Amino acid sequence: MKMILLVVVLAFHWPVLRALFTVEMTKTLYLAEFGNTVKMECRFPTGGSLDSINVYWHRMLSNGSEYDVYTLLNGNQDLQSQHPEYKGRAHMKPDLLRKGRAELEISNVKISDSGSYRCLIKMGGADYKQATLSVKAPYRIKTHVKELHKNADHKDAELSCESEGYPPVQVLWRDGNDQDLSKKASSKHSVTADQLFHISSLLIVNASSNNTYHCILWNETMEETYNASLRIPADIKTVDPPTADGLSSNAYWAAVVIVLMTIVTAGVIILMWKKKIKCSQLRAMLRPYLNEANEVHINEDDVMGKLNH
Ligand SMILES: *[C@@H]1O[C@H](CO)[C@@H](O)[C@H](O)[C@H]1NC(C)=O
Ligand SMILES: *[C@@H]1O[C@H](CO)[C@@H](O)[C@H](O)[C@H]1NC(C)=O
Ligand SMILES: *[C@@H]1O[C@H](CO)[C@@H](O)[C@H](O)[C@H]1NC(C)=O
Ligand SMILES: *[C@@H]1O[C@H](CO)[C@@H](O)[C@H](O)[C@H]1NC(C)=O
Ligand SMILES: *[C@@H]1O[C@H](CO)[C@@H](O)[C@H](O)[C@H]1NC(C)=O
Repeated sequence: MKMILLVVVLAFHWPVLRALFTVEMTKTLYLAEFGNTVKMECRFPTGGSLDSINVYWHRMLSNGSEYDVYTLLNGNQDLQSQHPEYKGRAHMKPDLLRKGRAELEISNVKISDSGSYRCLIKMGGADYKQATLSVKAPYRIKTHVKELHKNADHKDAELSCESEGYPPVQVLWRDGNDQDLSKKASSKHSVTADQLFHISSLLIVNASSNNTYHCILWNETMEETYNASLRIPADIKTVDPPTADGLSSNAYWAAVVIVLMTIVTAGVIILMWKKKIKCSQLRAMLRPYLNEANEVHINEDDVMGKLNH
């Protein structure tokens, strides 16, 4: 509320204050990649006392509310009202202030960090500026070509294309003759916890024909398209063992391990059982001697004779 008031007052006194103290943002649009660090910078006139500088960085949401991203009060960081979204991720380098630079650094940038940011500086005079942060995540396409089933007269190949990024994209498939095969593909998409767009697409083609296929990720608002090539038959991977075979092979080894373990365990039990017998026999034989108070007399021949018996 106090902040809104301050902005209103600033707007009202704009012409007067502007002449005295001006803040400029180095860019109006900052671009960042998901997971990286972005720096947004406000410039202000030097000369005032840095002991009395207040810097407020706010994230302005489209519904009118604001998040405190970072605050500097009288030259000192004050994170009491910092929004949890920016906890541990927003920093300012105090030594840059002497050069008239208020640089906000946001690390581990998230897709949800995209939006409007305002920098307001108060040092004698006061002024503010706004900029937009746009976060993207480049798509890296993973492809796979699998032969579906072997049959004397017909073979199919399953082409798969999978990726994650931002902004959302459409998947298009083309063959080497630039024929559009998109309608034959089956595509699925979801949104990850990081708000990334996850897409996977499958296309079944004739494995016997020699061709190159392209999986293209496209969005009309993006300058670049992402394009991966899959070649038939060159990219066909050696056929994965069917699940049933995998299971029986696992079962075979499990059986071998169980048999071995059973043999070892039985051996150990037999040994322990024999030892136990021996120990109890020995104890029984020694009892008469041990019962004699303090002095223990063991006739070795006697004991050995009984043991060998
Ligand atoms: C604006 O949106 C944010 C996040 O979605 C929410 O926390 C806040 O309460 C909203 N404010 C208003 C005034 O609706
Ligand atoms: C393209 O990206 C914009 C955001 O930049 C998004 O709103 C739109 O839905 C995307 N289009 C497709 C086809 O995914
Ligand atoms: C698959 O491709 C081979 C070689 O080009 C061709 O002879 C065969 O007719 C094709 N099969 C189908 C079902 O299109
Ligand atoms: C597939 O076609 C390319 C070019 O058309 C050719 O160089 C290559 O030898 C062909 N491969 C097979 C297995 O027919
Ligand atoms: C994808 O790349 C291939 C060559 O690798 C090219 O021929 C094709 O035009 C590209 N498609 C798009 C839509 O960029």
